[in-house]
Amino acid sequence: MEPADDVAIRVRDLRFRYPGATRDALAGLSLDVCRGEFLGITGPSGAGKSTLCLCLKGLVPAGEFSGSVSVAGQTVAPGSAYVESSALVFQNPETQIIGLTVAEDLAFGPENLRRDPAWIRAAIPVYLDQVRLAGYQDVDTYRLSGGQKQRLAIADALILEPEILILDEPTSELDPIGKDQFFEVLERLRRERSITVIMVEHAAEQLAAMADRVIVMQHGLVVDQGPPDQLYRNPVLFHHPEAERAPQISEVLFELLQAGLLPASQFTAQEEAGIQRLRALLENSVQSVAQRV
Ligand SMILES: Nc1ncnc2c1ncn2[C@@H]1O[C@H](COP(=O)(O)OP(=O)(O)OP(=O)(O)O)[C@@H](O)[C@H]1O
Ligand SMILES: [Mg+2]
Repeated sequence: MEPADDVAIRVRDLRFRYPGATRDALAGLSLDVCRGEFLGITGPSGAGKSTLCLCLKGLVPAGEFSGSVSVAGQTVAPGSAYVESSALVFQNPETQIIGLTVAEDLAFGPENLRRDPAWIRAAIPVYLDQVRLAGYQDVDTYRLSGGQKQRLAIADALILEPEILILDEPTSELDPIGKDQFFEVLERLRRERSITVIMVEHAAEQLAAMADRVIVMQHGLVVDQGPPDQLYRNPVLFHHPEAERAPQISEVLFELLQAGLLPASQFTAQEEAGIQRLRALLENSVQSVAQRV
């Protein structure tokens, strides 16, 4: 396979400014995402994360745009068609829900893609079940709670069976159980189908557990990126009071690293692996104390 075939998304020097704004929302950003990759995006409010997600779906907002964006081989520019092979779950689910009832809302996307009506009828309960909304087909969408709307928005994306799934803070309205269930659904999807996932998320533990690579955005640019075990060692972006949140286990291991009590090779952002390394460290020190007594 040609290396170019492995690239699902290619962004080069992307600049975007909203009308009347005094600074760029995206300030010359470049990014490649491989097919099948799980890319996490984090960064402070206003960094341009949602604007980037809109561009990746081909929904370039009105404003000044320059640079190049290619998604699944399709070129994105202002006024271009939206990208059919990607699905976007918006940060605010209200923006996305258009159907009067849950079933109508779910059917809307696949109907637009001219999927077989019988397939759509059969798929609706399957995808509702995946987001814990089984039996909600006939419920009016305006009656749903914030969390239920968010889960419906996720089902709206999943039912399109996209090649590329873009999730903009998909769990911001969900309770802790809802969050866990959503991440389980996502893990399962990734195991069953090799979809490319781009997820804007502040839940550092989940990003560390699921993402192949995490990028940090600030002021419309990528300021650092890497596999979670490498990225969460960055002392400028993490591990101080004004910093982005890092996984809790990485905070503890980072302190030990700074104190010279942990070899650099033992640092991790993964909860399970980190706990095991902490345990090994404690066992070793208990043993060496015991030997000295
Ligand atoms: N429709 C709009 N019109 C004008 N300016 C906008 C609009 N949407 C976003 N902006 C501005 O563009 C910049 C990037 O916003 P964006 O929503 O992409 O950031 P974000 O990283 O998603 O932030 P958050 O974490 O709060 O969701 C911000 O300065 C924001 O105020
Ligand atoms: Mg946003």
